[in-house]
Amino acid sequence: MTNLIEIENLGFDYGDRPLLSAINLHFPRNKVVAVMGGSGSGKTTILRLIGGLLTPRSGQVRLAGEVIGKPGSTALYKQRRKMGMLFQHGALFTDLTVFENVAFPLREHTTLPKSLLHDLVLLKLDAVGLRNAAHLKPAEISGGMARRVALARAVALDPQLIMYDEPFAGLDPISMGVTANLIRRLNDALGSTSILVSHDVHESFEIADYVYFLSEGHIVAQGTPTEMMASTHPYVEQFVHGKAEGPVPFHYPGKSLARDLGMNEA
Ligand SMILES: Nc1ncnc2c1ncn2[C@@H]1O[C@H](COP(=O)(O)OP(=O)(O)OP(=O)(O)O)[C@@H](O)[C@H]1O
Ligand SMILES: [Mg+2]
Repeated sequence: MTNLIEIENLGFDYGDRPLLSAINLHFPRNKVVAVMGGSGSGKTTILRLIGGLLTPRSGQVRLAGEVIGKPGSTALYKQRRKMGMLFQHGALFTDLTVFENVAFPLREHTTLPKSLLHDLVLLKLDAVGLRNAAHLKPAEISGGMARRVALARAVALDPQLIMYDEPFAGLDPISMGVTANLIRRLNDALGSTSILVSHDVHESFEIADYVYFLSEGHIVAQGTPTEMMASTHPYVEQFVHGKAEGPVPFHYPGKSLARDLGMNEA
């Protein structure tokens, strides 16, 4: 099977607010696939559905051909073991050293002997260039370094699937480039599949094999970064070229301002 993750006809609502409908996404093995879209379009929600933290209203999410288990099920626990996640607001444990932060998932999910665990953590830290920072606490490293530690922690268990939620947010251009390269290199070195959720066009296009654009609950465009750069689709054009005017809504959906101010709508 070439696809590690297959999402078929997925629908999801938060309460009575419809968010996603008829979503189809394929994530082939060994590829880096970007899911892009404006703020509030549902990108993090898709990652939560893949991680089994949320259950679809309709349709399916499959990992290696098996439907993602229900929350709390043994099936889901086993599936989670194959996933690594870099959370959008995921902070490191502030009381633990860099070393202990990366060791955490290994202690949680494995019973490796101490010396092997030690070596594995150092190898992961080496891969992100921070082996010599192992003894530091999160407060003693920069934001860009913290992101790399979080990356090392996300891949500690050599996951088949790595999900990155806004890995470039808040980084300077150099750290962004370093992080993007790392995402690609880790994916290729581990032979895993990466899902990159981001609204950073430049960095995402640089490393992604394929891109999906999400807007108003639907996939509105998809293709390789080269195809997307050349696309004349109004949404893609607006997004890729960062235009203020276009189909991407600025307002959270709901009543118009005129109605909120008690005026008659034209
Ligand atoms: N737990 C929740 N309960 C109710 N509504 C939620 C919940 N989480 C998210 N939402 C709503 O669902 C929509 C999609 O949220 P989501 O976090 O998936 O967006 P996103 O694409 O990741 O946005 P961003 O780029 O800002 O991170 C938003 O309008 C948000 O307000
Ligand atoms: Mg998000």
